[in-house]
Amino acid sequence: MDRRLRCLVANPLVIARIVRASYEADLGEAGGFLPGRVPLDDLPTAFQPYLWACGQLPAHYPAGSGGVRTWLEGEFARDDPAVRNAIPRLGDAERDRLMTALAVLGHTFRWDCVPPAPGRFQEQRIPLPPGIAGPWSALARSCGQPRVGTTWNLHLCNWRMTDRPGGAAYRPEELTADNVRLADNWLLPPADGHLERFSTSFVLLEARGATVLRHLVDAVEALGCRRLDDAVASLEQLHGAMKAMTIAFSSNVRRATVDPATWLELVQPTFPWSAEGEEPGRVEAGPSGSQLGTIQALDSALGVAGGSSVAQQAEAGRRYMPLPHRRFLRTLAGAGPVIRALVRQSRCEELAERFDNCIGALASFRATHQARGAQYLRNDQTGTGARASTGLTIAVDDDDPIATFKTTMAARIGETEAAALVSVGQRRGPRGEVTGPEGTVPAPPEACSRPRGQRSWRC
Ligand code: HEM
Repeated sequence: MDRRLRCLVANPLVIARIVRASYEADLGEAGGFLPGRVPLDDLPTAFQPYLWACGQLPAHYPAGSGGVRTWLEGEFARDDPAVRNAIPRLGDAERDRLMTALAVLGHTFRWDCVPPAPGRFQEQRIPLPPGIAGPWSALARSCGQPRVGTTWNLHLCNWRMTDRPGGAAYRPEELTADNVRLADNWLLPPADGHLERFSTSFVLLEARGATVLRHLVDAVEALGCRRLDDAVASLEQLHGAMKAMTIAFSSNVRRATVDPATWLELVQPTFPWSAEGEEPGRVEAGPSGSQLGTIQALDSALGVAGGSSVAQQAEAGRRYMPLPHRRFLRTLAGAGPVIRALVRQSRCEELAERFDNCIGALASFRATHQARGAQYLRNDQTGTGARASTGLTIAVDDDDPIATFKTTMAARIGETEAAALVSVGQRRGPRGEVTGPEGTVPAPPEACSRPRGQRSWRC
């Protein structure tokens, strides 16, 4: 990068504007990592067989109903040129709808039935019927994504609202557990309700995430403009929104809403792909929490670094996200170091404290997920369907998945806490002094005084 451009990019005001512009352009109408409109209910005629087949899955998929492979091989024996020719004419929302249907058919085909037969776990190549493989590959290529189920297509686009049709406008704060339903459900009652509540909990997390992102971008803007009071207020609102997101997670995923035994046996097994995708030799994972945009956005903006396996998975998970979302995350990653530097340079204890509260809220989300997730795993895996985590953190032959999960998550919680400006073990005193194991460091002399009007600072 040439020197002039580097100076420009290092200018906090320019960075704040770039973040705002990317937020508006890349996160669409909903202002978050969700579709801009309610996902479509329908598709052009050529694609009707896919929507129809998704509707028939509950009759074939549960073990004891015959499985879906033979049936789908018969229905989609031919890679129909009419379908192939219609793909380039699809709009973005139609592509998302078709991608969800193909991912649902592909993943149910991969396992044939739930709970899956033990032999399915050893399969490395999945002989998809040509009428599914052909359009799925073509569509995945046009979306710039690997041909596999992802958090985007299997969770975040697979929902509808009870009070309006597909394609309607909505605001993320309108989405609740009462009005969001799963669009394509492949299980029979009562397991279908557990699948629905599990899958829509990802949608509801990103719905609360949209508020998080709004305050995050406001905070970046206030910092970039060195508007101290606005920055303090935005970080405080960000902190509140992050806590609300964690509460949404814990109230939507609990024993009473998603039964752990049903989840392990009937819900979870469909999500991992855990076999080669299109690229020979490359084992694809499947949808995973590590593909959730809001958590990734927070990591980038707050400067949570680290080399833990969860951090690496998040990085790898970008491949499975829509291109505009990846662009926004890249923009935030560039802004992260500047955001931290601005908070430090402000020498404002109040601002640093608000920043650290946000780090604390992110660590707390992770600790909640760690505790809740552990309730859904079982060390004795005999007779259960689930034997691989979607992100492949927990291997098929792991004999202590609970310990593996807890240790893996603990490493990321540690990395999150380490990103605080005042580290764990230190305390901030009433005059901004920091007390730690090595004694007390006074607050910097220029620490800001009580507010009078909009406070600002120079670096
Ligand atoms: C209910 C049972 C759950 C279990 C056992 C579980 C397990 C896991 C595992 C093993 C990972 C590591 C990546 C992988 O291998 O897939 C992970 C990551 C993650 N999961 Fe879950 N998960 C559960 C539910 C959820 C739900 C419902 C959400 C969100 C609505 C979620 C959000 C996340 C996030 C954000 C990550 C990335 C971790 C991080 O950044 O710290 N998980 N989960």
